[in-house]
Amino acid sequence: MPDSVRVVEVGPRDGLQNEAQAVPAATKIELIERLADCGLRTVEATSFVSPRWVPQMADAAEVLAGLTRRDGVAYPVLVPNVQGLERALAAGAGEIAVFTAASDAFNRRNINASVDESLTRLAPVVEMALAHGLKVRAYVSTVLGCPYQGDVPLAEVVRVTRAVARMGCYEISLGDTIGVGTPGRARAMFRACAEAVGAERLALHFHDTYGQALANVYACLEEGARVVDASVSGLGGCPYAQGASGNVATEDLVYMLHGLGIATGIDLDRLIDTGRWISARLGRAPASRLGRIGGSGGSAS
Ligand code: HMG
Ligand code: MG
Repeated sequence: MPDSVRVVEVGPRDGLQNEAQAVPAATKIELIERLADCGLRTVEATSFVSPRWVPQMADAAEVLAGLTRRDGVAYPVLVPNVQGLERALAAGAGEIAVFTAASDAFNRRNINASVDESLTRLAPVVEMALAHGLKVRAYVSTVLGCPYQGDVPLAEVVRVTRAVARMGCYEISLGDTIGVGTPGRARAMFRACAEAVGAERLALHFHDTYGQALANVYACLEEGARVVDASVSGLGGCPYAQGASGNVATEDLVYMLHGLGIATGIDLDRLIDTGRWISARLGRAPASRLGRIGGSGGSAS
């Protein structure tokens, strides 16, 4: 097991993008600031996707403009195409995340493109972003199953992972978009991708629909994973993956990591408060276990 893990907080983007109610930009900004206060060093802030597709993210520029950005904290933003990159550059983004999937069926519903069309679309986005000095992360969705096509061949997951790595993305986040994976398959998937691009370039992005995300993270930590995406209070889902629930909750992930003696730099009690705060703002109970209990019990903070 590693000494430390970098936790990438995706709640303000992956979590809030799925909210049916309009969330004010001021709430999004306060959430991001609070997460940075908890010690998170990467907080995915918003997405510059088409507002026709995801109206909740239409205020992306306002959110970035309202942030007091701190040294040592990265605020990546999701970008689907050159138009999104131009908006992100105009808003002063320092890091972007591009995204595709290992399944044609999901990609068509999510970004109106096949896998190969999406790779063709992303190449100039990545090239242009790198030329502007931005850091570029990539997501590969549906690595353990697709809501529309079912099984996704591992060879296809590896092919797409290799393709975005070759474009120059510094990190590739492997998305179990609908949380169907179980530890044995997650481990095999991670191992195959690590053989292709190196474990140090991979991140885990596991949704928790079937309650398997923490077990899947554990299995991949044993395989050399060192970066894990998570969403405070387990917020979210994917607007183009019916029934998908949020990412593994950041609070529950941090509790497990600290319990394993793995450092994260995160103040767990403060994070629990933040999860309870945003859940109250959204008018619901926290989806994290620790948020429901109301504290870490001091045992792994
Ligand atoms: P399209 O309709 O094929 O694109 O959508 P288009 O180029 O024909 O444009 C249609 C309209 O959108 C045009 O406006 C464009 O100007 C506008 P109109 O002329 O009709 O008025 N448009 C934009 N506006 C602002 N910013 C832009 C932009 N692009 C086009 N960037 C497109 C293709 C990719 C744009 C669309 O499908 C899209 O935005 N999809 C994003 C869907 C999304 O955000 N999904 C959730 C994120 S992915 C996810 O959650 C998974 C992840 O968490 C990992 C995991 O869990 O596995 C990352
Ligand atoms: Mg996701």
